[in-house]
Amino acid sequence: MGSMPISEQKLTKPTFPAGANSLDYAQSLDQKDHLREFRSKFILPSKGNIKSKAVSTPENGDPCIYFCGNSLGLQPRAVAEYLQIHLNTWATVGVNGHFRKMEKSPLIQWQLLAEQAAEQSAPIVGAKPGEVGVMGTLTMNLHLLMASFYTPTKEKNKIILDWKAFPSDHFAIESQIRGHGFDPKEAMVMISPEEGSYEVSTEKILSIIDEHASTTALLLLPGIQYYTGQYFDMKTITAYAQSKGLIVGWDLAHAAGNVPVQLHDWNVDFAVWCTYKYMNAGPGAIAGFYVHERHGKVEYVDDKPIFRHRLSGWYGGDQVGRMNMENNFRPSPGASGYQVSNPSAVDLASLLAALSVFNATSMPAIREKSVYLTAYLEHLLLASPNTSAFTIITPSDIEARGTQLSILLKPGIIDILFEMLETEGIVADKRRPDVIRVAPVPLYNTYEEVWRFVQIFEKALAEFEGQ
Ligand SMILES: Cc1ncc(COP(=O)(O)O)c(C=O)c1O
Repeated sequence: MGSMPISEQKLTKPTFPAGANSLDYAQSLDQKDHLREFRSKFILPSKGNIKSKAVSTPENGDPCIYFCGNSLGLQPRAVAEYLQIHLNTWATVGVNGHFRKMEKSPLIQWQLLAEQAAEQSAPIVGAKPGEVGVMGTLTMNLHLLMASFYTPTKEKNKIILDWKAFPSDHFAIESQIRGHGFDPKEAMVMISPEEGSYEVSTEKILSIIDEHASTTALLLLPGIQYYTGQYFDMKTITAYAQSKGLIVGWDLAHAAGNVPVQLHDWNVDFAVWCTYKYMNAGPGAIAGFYVHERHGKVEYVDDKPIFRHRLSGWYGGDQVGRMNMENNFRPSPGASGYQVSNPSAVDLASLLAALSVFNATSMPAIREKSVYLTAYLEHLLLASPNTSAFTIITPSDIEARGTQLSILLKPGIIDILFEMLETEGIVADKRRPDVIRVAPVPLYNTYEEVWRFVQIFEKALAEFEGQ
């Protein structure tokens, strides 16, 4: 690797030698893994635990193989510690915890806890600290930000989205359009891949932007498409759409903590993400959002604040005014001025615990392993004897994907495969009828696990072919 910092290295697609499909080779990659000590920062459910139907304590048995971080990330060990600290603070100082920074605690006063989490989230999405906020949940934040960023007119009211938008995004967009008195059938422009393909080319996206630019208000796409795993060229698409007068928002549910997006440098207008997938803050945990610094500006003219319209609440007000109970809204500058309510400190403690793991490494380091780990999975899959039984629908270009590979199986295989995976204690994700999503996560998965998964995958295909 030489002496160049990881953040400046351009990653190339790894190639693997002839003997790469041996267990020894997989284990040799694990030995060289620069993130290998991170696995012990997570609780890995055992094969017994993952099948249990009653609450039990985590056991130290043979760990399951967990490839489902694209859906819910594993629990960092720090979560229990941070939650206990928070509970002790609440139990001992009660309401004083709002303003008191407790010594020996990694958490600051509840009043500023969301800002602490936002500041620590900013490097993960390539934002300046003041451009990130933490509140609510992804879909709620999408609604809140669309209330500010989707400002349709009679002439320009369309929203461009992807053909298979996550249902919650689709519903949010549809309802926003309706709420403004427009017809979703006319105003929702869906970009789809060419017939028979799953990948949407950047050229296609730019041509749809061209076609609808004069009637479109907003472009809202996923950084990584949840079904296919395609990572869109966010930089090019953002610049192009903005040059045609569109506002650009991104749903980073599958991108945050997975790929090193650069929201500020790419000049993105706004973005939202959840923290329960690659960011490991727990099911339904508090979410993140970004607004470019130009949208967070607050200027005063004759002591009257001038700022971008948003749906406001008292936590968006500046911290001094907030507790004076005055009814003139003076927003905090930056993303924190888009906050609405007093956020859940339990939730924030959990997120801050998860962020403490990220803070011990960096997105470029995570990305470097991720590219390798997923390429290894792809390599083993494509070297298997039954490649005619499946198609990897995630792009093979490393620049156009994150950790996840989506595998489209021949009809009839999925049930055989999932029965075998369950028996072996391997967790992946089905999207009926025939797609499985497999996400080896660089912080806690190993090359050996990838190798073991492919063994079972091949066994399932062989059983299917032999039927
Ligand atoms: C791409 C995408 N958008 C939106 C959501 C919905 O998120 P939430 O339920 O946290 O609002 C998800 C959830 O998995 C998602 O994957």
